[in-house]
Amino acid sequence: MLLCSALLLGGQSVSAQEPPEAGYAGMDTCEICHEDVVTAFKKSPHWAAVRLGIPPGDGVGCESCHGPGEAHVEDAPEHIITFRDEPARERIAQCVSCHEGRSGMRFRRGIHTLAGQACDVCHVSGHDVSKAAVAVPKLLKDSEPELCFDCHARQAAEMTMPFRHRTSDGVLKCSDCHGVHGKSVRRMEKHAAQEACQNCHRGKQGPFMFEHLANTVTGCVTCHVPHGSTNPKLLIRHQVSFLCLECHSVITRYHDLSQTRFQNCTVCHTAIHGSQVNSLFLR
Ligand code: HEC
Ligand code: HEC
Ligand code: HEC
Ligand code: HEC
Ligand code: HEC
Ligand code: HEC
Ligand code: HEC
Ligand code: HEC
Ligand code: HEC
Ligand code: HEC
Repeated sequence: MLLCSALLLGGQSVSAQEPPEAGYAGMDTCEICHEDVVTAFKKSPHWAAVRLGIPPGDGVGCESCHGPGEAHVEDAPEHIITFRDEPARERIAQCVSCHEGRSGMRFRRGIHTLAGQACDVCHVSGHDVSKAAVAVPKLLKDSEPELCFDCHARQAAEMTMPFRHRTSDGVLKCSDCHGVHGKSVRRMEKHAAQEACQNCHRGKQGPFMFEHLANTVTGCVTCHVPHGSTNPKLLIRHQVSFLCLECHSVITRYHDLSQTRFQNCTVCHTAIHGSQVNSLFLR
């Protein structure tokens, strides 16, 4: 946890009143002109960073995000990082200076960081005086999935389909499957997807005595769509037999495909994800 390392640092911390480092003006100076912001800031989660004396620079507070402010104090409103005009890279650097590496998070390799989206597309400062309080936990701009739907319209549409993972009803969140940050994977590549699915659907991945190679080698998304679909069981094909026959184009003559009873493959091959007892997944 970030908090734990923060507490360690806290042992040698100095209070916010200490004189700031060169180039920094210190929070007391900011307060002269931004009193309302300072009041709001003291109620926000980042007040902890000041209380615990997290670097850079004791007594820095505001400037840990906004950068050294001496020049701004002399020439407001210039010379300060606003989180509005700067390139994403610069905004990200302000945040990861404290957050990178803690609690195993690797923000720089997060899907959005790599896509050039800064932290503040999803997070707020928490000291916005126009909002009475931080309404959403974790300093988020909005709750999931609405937060994500703002930019991912296609997935929003998929999530209204007849069969879906019910993110809009709060049954699960986008971030249950997607490491929005902190995971090294850019997106849901095979292994990351398997791992995510396995968190909630234990037993579908094995290990099995008799593995279905389609599952073991190419993973859940070989046969399922992750978001939503018009196909039952979130399958990629409307009819199970179409799915199976794509890979098993030649099957024993015992399977008389002109008979409907043979078209529903999983009526007999019930252990389709893999089996402990039957090599043909018949049970
Ligand atoms: C002498 C008065 C004064 C001091 C001291 C001062 N500011 Fe400002 N600041 C201003 C003025 C004036 C503006 C522009 C009007 C506004 O947005 O409120 C401003 C704007 C800002 C903005 C927004 C810039 C924008 O364009 O959106 C930030 C961020 C900011 N100040 C941070 C700080 C920080 C951090 C400190 C302490 C290091 C600080 N200010 C100290 C006067 C001051
Ligand atoms: C954790 C990083 C962080 C810290 C610490 C921080 N800010 Fe900000 N600040 C931001 C971000 C991000 C924005 C962009 C708008 C938003 O999310 O509220 C912002 C916006 C602002 C603005 C312009 C918009 C507004 O709310 O009026 C001012 C002024 C400002 N900050 C002043 C301060 C002062 C003064 C402090 C110290 C009491 C401070 N900030 C501490 C991240 C931070
Ligand atoms: C000076 C170091 C520092 C900087 C810079 C910083 N943070 Fe933090 N952040 C902290 C600390 C300390 C906490 C609170 C301890 C904890 O919850 O682990 C925290 C907590 C958070 C939280 C969790 C809040 C909660 O309610 O659980 C989020 C989200 C966050 N920071 C995002 C950001 C973003 C975005 C930026 C850049 C705009 C940023 N931080 C810049 C130190 C920092
Ligand atoms: C695409 C949106 C998005 C972006 C971009 C983003 N975050 Fe987050 N962040 C989230 C969500 C969603 C959560 C809450 C996850 C949860 O509920 O478990 C979160 C949670 C956090 C937390 C709290 C972690 C915890 O376990 O309490 C921190 C700290 C944080 N983010 C920092 C950052 C930093 C730093 C950046 C930029 C490098 C960033 N975030 C970029 C969406 C985002
Ligand atoms: C401010 C806009 C914005 C928000 C908000 C946002 N994203 Fe993104 N996201 C992007 C952009 C831009 C990309 C990179 C371009 C792309 O692949 O669509 C991206 C990429 C992704 C990818 C990788 C896509 C790929 O093809 O590799 C995933 C997964 C993703 N976002 C999930 C989320 C989740 C989950 C949330 C909510 C917690 C979220 N996004 C919020 C803009 C956003
Ligand atoms: C059940 C797990 C799961 C949930 C919940 C989930 N996703 Fe995904 N998402 C995936 C997987 C797996 C992929 C990769 C699909 C592939 O490779 O065929 C993916 C792909 C994506 C992509 C890349 C483009 C695409 O569609 O292939 C985006 C963007 C995305 N998801 C956004 C979201 C958003 C936004 C939410 C919340 C509304 C969300 N996801 C919820 C598992 C999930
Ligand atoms: C956070 C938990 C969670 C994760 C992670 C998750 N699922 Fe689910 N899944 C559920 C829940 C809950 C349901 C039941 C849906 C309902 O009743 O709304 C479900 C249902 C399903 C169904 C059955 C739908 C039906 O109509 O019976 C399939 C197939 C499925 N998930 C596949 C996946 C795949 C593939 C992944 C990984 C990409 C995955 N799930 C990841 C929670 C999860
Ligand atoms: C070879 C294709 C295939 C692969 C790979 C596959 N599935 Fe399935 N899955 C199916 C079929 C077909 C059904 C429908 C079974 C039926 O008709 O009863 C199903 C049904 C499900 C169901 C809902 C019914 C139930 O048994 O609970 C869940 C949940 C599920 N799969 C999760 C997963 C997960 C998680 C993975 C990856 C570990 C995965 N599947 C990989 C073909 C596959
Ligand atoms: C992505 C391709 C793929 C899909 C889709 C797929 N399978 Fe398979 N299946 C395989 C592979 C590869 C093997 C291993 C073949 C081998 O060992 O000869 C296999 C093995 C089997 C076996 C054991 C056969 C044997 O000779 O040991 C059965 C039974 C089977 N699959 C049934 C199904 C059914 C039913 C479906 C539809 C729900 C299905 N498969 C979907 C690729 C697939
Ligand atoms: C009525 C039950 C039943 C249905 C329905 C059924 N199977 Fe089978 N399947 C069996 C039995 C029994 C065997 C072993 C005997 C044999 O192969 O002749 C078998 C064997 C197999 C094998 C391994 C032998 C081979 O052909 O390589 C595959 C693959 C297979 N089935 C795929 C499918 C597919 C695909 C479907 C749907 C189109 C399907 N089965 C529907 C009962 C069924």
